[in-house]
Amino acid sequence: MRKPFIIANWKMNKNVHESVAFVKAIKEKLPANKEIGIAAQAVSLYNMKKVAGSSNLQIIAQNASAELEGPYTGEISMRSLADAGVTYVMLGHLERRRLFNESNDSINQKVLAALNAGILPIICTDEEMVQTEVNGQIHYVFRQLKSVLKGVPANKLSQIVISYEPSWAVGSTHQANPDIAEEGCQAIRQSLVEMYGNEIGEQVRILYGGSVNPENIGRIMSKPNVDGALIGRASLEIESFLQMINYIE
Ligand code: G3H
Repeated sequence: MRKPFIIANWKMNKNVHESVAFVKAIKEKLPANKEIGIAAQAVSLYNMKKVAGSSNLQIIAQNASAELEGPYTGEISMRSLADAGVTYVMLGHLERRRLFNESNDSINQKVLAALNAGILPIICTDEEMVQTEVNGQIHYVFRQLKSVLKGVPANKLSQIVISYEPSWAVGSTHQANPDIAEEGCQAIRQSLVEMYGNEIGEQVRILYGGSVNPENIGRIMSKPNVDGALIGRASLEIESFLQMINYIE
């Protein structure tokens, strides 16, 4: 049974005080049957964890270096994030790939570094990573997913989270489509089953991201292969976030 995982990805929004105030406001209101996390700017994470205390709110980094320490001015290490109480790190978000030229190879190095530091990776994929079009027909291909997972031992795989975020739905006015969410997540699961076997493939949580909001989250989460949501804009307001973590299917 995969536990639903709802994540706020605040991107480069909210300063330290705003982030801490948000955690204070929601930490007593978290549903027990779901995992809830917030991915915030690195500078806020330590204070957010202090305020979250022993609540089951997961504090999530949006990126980190593949190097654990050393002469890498301006980088943030997984080791320091682990020490700050961070439990997950998002890797390869669409915006990192498109705006900061992150490659499959660098994401793969970061995945391995995270596991090495005891942080669980949330690997973000978009349609370009998993789809190809031949004669107007969409086919799923997993060469890129395979390359970001290279060297990950099978016994770690079930702890990794994967998100599927079609670029046309991210930060856009397009309606999130529950059927497309299911199709993408199901195809990713099928590829994991082929790569790692049924038991592991069925354990990995696969999240959908892209224009999720309080109105559509219930329909998206009702899909059998969608185990959670990675939410940008609609996660910035406390009321809207609380509605989404308490969605009704
Ligand atoms: O990580 C979250 C995604 O980029 C989705 O953002 O919910 O604002 O479309 P959005």
